Amino acid sequence: CSTLGIGLAGLGTVGSGVVLALQRNSELISDRTGGSVRLDVARVLVRDLGKSRPVAVPADRLTTEWKELVDDPAVDIVVELIGGTDAAFDIVAAALRARKPVVTGNKALLAERGTELFKLSREFDTPIHFEAAVAGGIPIIKTVQESFVGNRIQSMSGIINGTSNYILERMTTAGLEFSEALSEAQQLGYAEADPALDVNGWDAAHKAILLATLAYGFPIDPAEVHVAGIEQVRPIDIEFATRLGYVVKLLAVIREHPGGEVELRVQPSFIAKSHILASVHGVFNAVAVHGDAAGESLFYGRGAGQDPTASSVVADLVEAARSLRQPNGHRGFLPYRDSGRLLPVEETTTAYY
Ligand code: NDP
Ligand code: HSE
Repeated sequence: CSTLGIGLAGLGTVGSGVVLALQRNSELISDRTGGSVRLDVARVLVRDLGKSRPVAVPADRLTTEWKELVDDPAVDIVVELIGGTDAAFDIVAAALRARKPVVTGNKALLAERGTELFKLSREFDTPIHFEAAVAGGIPIIKTVQESFVGNRIQSMSGIINGTSNYILERMTTAGLEFSEALSEAQQLGYAEADPALDVNGWDAAHKAILLATLAYGFPIDPAEVHVAGIEQVRPIDIEFATRLGYVVKLLAVIREHPGGEVELRVQPSFIAKSHILASVHGVFNAVAVHGDAAGESLFYGRGAGQDPTASSVVADLVEAARSLRQPNGHRGFLPYRDSGRLLPVEETTTAYY
């Protein structure tokens, strides 16, 4: 069994979730990494060394100096989960220059400064994985990058900010004030460190920019995107929507027009109660992807929070580890284990869904 060292920048909601997920499923992850590779959290970057944490990390592995983390010879893969676009940029850029694969959930960083970082990624032949950056636990990045690679993507639309969706629902169904609902979303670990990004639409816009860049392959200037957030939604809007048979949702729309131009907008929208997106509740996200060959597919799941986001980060970590350990390997293998059994038919129950 060999070991790959992780340099984990950030031990907040998502960073802690990653440590917990790696602990909880360590054997399984090790097997699935393609030949017993142990992922070891070798170094952890935080702001405050004295803070009490929900996960135990040996004190000598904690640092407040990002260079120590990136330069540590025990670190093979760098995971950036501090957020923001300044220190996070320096960390990701330095990791790429050191040819250490990067995993990040930072959509603001990639939407605002991705052009520079993806250039570095190509220059140093080192990947940036970012499944966690869009729609939490929904594997939408790999879907667009890989499963839909043979399609011309005609549109992608849906709900891609869990905090806004949660707030709108709590205002509608529980009659909460905006600030009360936001405070709940913060306590549940859904909101950004700066929640203004959630409620002014920019978190969803960052994600939409990433999806559009993947689908259409050109850099997008955030200043050219139409963005309106739920901070503009008043209780009276919700009341009218309800009376008219609609719900209010923050919708992101990416659509290719016949001339090849791409429409990209984020805005609160009225959705008919009978529409499938009206049933996307709380922190859930849903993205409808329309490809010219596949037609429309809908991807639904938890769009924010500790465990779903950690799930995407760990998936990227395993992918990064596999490509370090088996550069010529391919994904299509089926891992076997000797134990395991099917539940005998007589022990099964009839289920109603
Ligand atoms: P938190 O605010 O909970 O955690 C941030 C962590 O980074 C903290 O441990 C903090 O240290 C550390 N940190 C922040 N700035 C610095 C710095 N300059 N130097 C050193 N350490 C720093 O954020 P989240 O875990 O919620 O989010 C992390 C990233 O994941 C963000 O990019 C976010 O957009 C993204 N994301 C979050 C999701 C969510 O549901 N929360 C979902 C998908 C993506 P300390 O603990 O000492 O304060
Ligand atoms: N703050 C984000 C949200 C986290 O609420 O959707 C997930 O990216």
